[in-house]
Amino acid sequence: MLNLSVDEVLTTTRTVRKRLDLTRPVPRALVEDCIDLALQAPNGSNNQAFEFVIVEDAAMRAKVAAIYRAGMQHFIDMIAADPSIYSINDVGRSHRREEMSTSTAHLNDHMHEVPLLVIPTLMGRMEGQHIFYQASLWGSVWPTTWNFMLACRSRGLGTALTTVHLWKEREMADLLGIPFDKYTQGGLIPVAYTLGTDFKRGQRVPAAEVMHWDRW
Ligand SMILES: Cc1cc2nc3c(=O)[nH]c(=O)nc-3n(C[C@H](O)[C@H](O)[C@H](O)COP(=O)(O)O)c2cc1C
Repeated sequence: MLNLSVDEVLTTTRTVRKRLDLTRPVPRALVEDCIDLALQAPNGSNNQAFEFVIVEDAAMRAKVAAIYRAGMQHFIDMIAADPSIYSINDVGRSHRREEMSTSTAHLNDHMHEVPLLVIPTLMGRMEGQHIFYQASLWGSVWPTTWNFMLACRSRGLGTALTTVHLWKEREMADLLGIPFDKYTQGGLIPVAYTLGTDFKRGQRVPAAEVMHWDRW
């Protein structure tokens, strides 16, 4: 345990890509503790309809990482074909984007070396669902996943929430035996000890800029 305060955990749980320790194994018991804490998060009707696949076997990690890379390549090719797709992410911070792309590329190249690859899944499919059901389904998986990532941070483990492999969700389901028609994958979270334990606050807009009292 790093003995961080709640606020320290909330402000320093960064997306860790370059500072994942690829050489140090992560004990299974530690991951189970983090999943136990994850399950304390709120979830729709307390259905607890999620399952986590934790990939530890090196040969399987290589296959999972290959699918992640294929998803990333698919997204890159889509953006190359139609750059306007990327504009949903364009918030005018180009210096950050450059920094992020080297970091993203680093994780892309080393994903197979990360000791654990965690895939949260949720019972149900979103396709064609009313926004209420979509919110209920995603709204169940993210608090749980984020609790998991916070619990990891407080124990010296680094994580990165990624979703790009979902362009190849069916391939991942086939590889891992996830029943594709019944379960939606939330993403892929690499988990490793961090290289050093000091992390800074994220670059975010000031709260007052995004607050609307009483009406928009
Ligand atoms: C929904 C979601 C999807 C993401 N997908 C990816 C991804 O596929 N690959 C990746 O490297 N990072 C991914 N990220 C990480 C973001 O790029 C990261 O949170 C952002 O750069 C801010 O970093 P920070 O939280 O450390 O400040 C994702 C984050 C979120 C919330």
